[in-house]
Formats: sequence, structure tokens, C-alpha cells
Amino acid sequence: MESKKQLIALCAVAIIIPCLINSRRQQPSPRAVNTSEFEADVIAAGNGHVIKYLENEQRKEKKAIRPSDYRVRPFNLSGKLKGLSDNQIDQKLGLYAGYVKKWNQIENALQTVSKENVASSYSPFRALKVGETYAMNGTILHELYFENLGTPGRTPEAATKKLLEEHFGSVQNYLDDLRACGLAARGWVLTCYSLYDGSVRNYVLDAHNERVPVMVVPLVVLDVYEHAYMIEFGTKRKQYLRVFANNINWPVIEQRVKKWVT
Ligand SMILES: [Fe+2]
Repeated sequence: MESKKQLIALCAVAIIIPCLINSRRQQPSPRAVNTSEFEADVIAAGNGHVIKYLENEQRKEKKAIRPSDYRVRPFNLSGKLKGLSDNQIDQKLGLYAGYVKKWNQIENALQTVSKENVASSYSPFRALKVGETYAMNGTILHELYFENLGTPGRTPEAATKKLLEEHFGSVQNYLDDLRACGLAARGWVLTCYSLYDGSVRNYVLDAHNERVPVMVVPLVVLDVYEHAYMIEFGTKRKQYLRVFANNINWPVIEQRVKKWVT
């Protein structure tokens, strides 16, 4: 009886192993993995947060703006800020308009630039592609910055407060980290929600397109280029950072948190 059982077990192994080997051989190569499988992996890795990201991307695709048709958005912050003058803001609005203009020029030029003899040392195509992210991020980051200024003296609203306490321990800890990043950065500080792992962190950018984190959504955007504070504070960046923190438009941050996080 015992030897009969062993014989059956051996037969089963003899049939199953070749089947397994064969099925492994029939697996598609990594190149053959289709997009939906990839998205499923990303969604699993992102703990479900990516779903919202993909939905938003699809929505955006439907109303995509033509590359050369970006417009300067109006921002009226006149008299609304405490400690930052209209002149300081106006200078930045002028710079912002310049980025929008350049972004359109670059996208137009990319339609006709030669893709022959392209090199990473220098080529007109490379120059345009590098300029593209610089002008694009320069545009978007300034818009987010202007948007999140206003309503001086307010404190974070419910969803934002909960999020900051969850990830930094307290609102004060968050503001201390923002300030430290503000002193460490050469261009921007972004408080971002990660669509990859659900974390909230402050990131330091040295230029519009340098050290930019991926798969994240900016919730708070802080400009620390000298032009953001020189007129008002000279080289005293610490004073500017204090004033910025007091002028954060927390209702706008709350909208961003509700849109992307909760
Ligand atoms: Fe700026």
C-alpha cells in the first residue's frame, strides 16, 4: 500500500513540474506587460492613493490645453498680505508672466526643432527640453505660490491640521521643518503628499527643475529665491520665512488636502 502511494506521488510530481516549467516559459517578458497590469502594480504599491491620481490625469487629458496656449493667470493679492508689499509681489508676478511666455515659445520651437545630431553635451533639442521643465515648473510653482498666499494670521483648518499632526506630530513641528527647509533650499520648498506611499514631507528644490520629487502633489509651495524677499527683507531670509508662515492661505491648503488626500 505504502509503495502504491509513493508511486502515485512520483507520477504527480512528474506531471506537475514540467507543467510549472512550461507555464513559466509562457510568462510574458517584462516588455510584454500591458499598461493595466503596470497600473495595478502601482496602485497596489501606492496603497490605493494612486487611483485618485489616475482619475485626475484622465480628466485632465480630456481638457488638455494646446502646448503653445498657456495664459498668464491673474492674481490679486494687493493689500491682502501682512509684511509683504504689493511691490514685492508685483515683481514676482512679472517674473511669472515671463515663464508663461517662455514656456509657450519653447513648446512652439519644439514643434520644428531638428532631432538630428542630438547630444547630451549640447544640441538645440536638448536646450529646449531642459528649458521646457524650467519654464513649465517656473509657471506652475509660481501659480501655486500665489494661490497659497493670503488671509494672514489664520491657522490650519480641520483636515490640514489632522494631516500635519499625523505626519509631523504637531502643526508647530511642521512649521519648524518648513522653516529649516526654507533656510536649506536655494529655490523652493514644497510640502507634498505622496501618491506613492501616502507620506507628507517637505522637499527642497535648488531650481524649478532640480531635485524635483516625483509622484507627489504639492500642498504648500514656498518660494525662497532671493527675488521673493530682497525688496522687503534684504538678505534676512529668516524674517521672510516668518512672514510667509503668517500669510499662508490655510483655506486654500485645506482645499488641496481635500482634493488629493482625504
Ligand atoms: Fe519666484
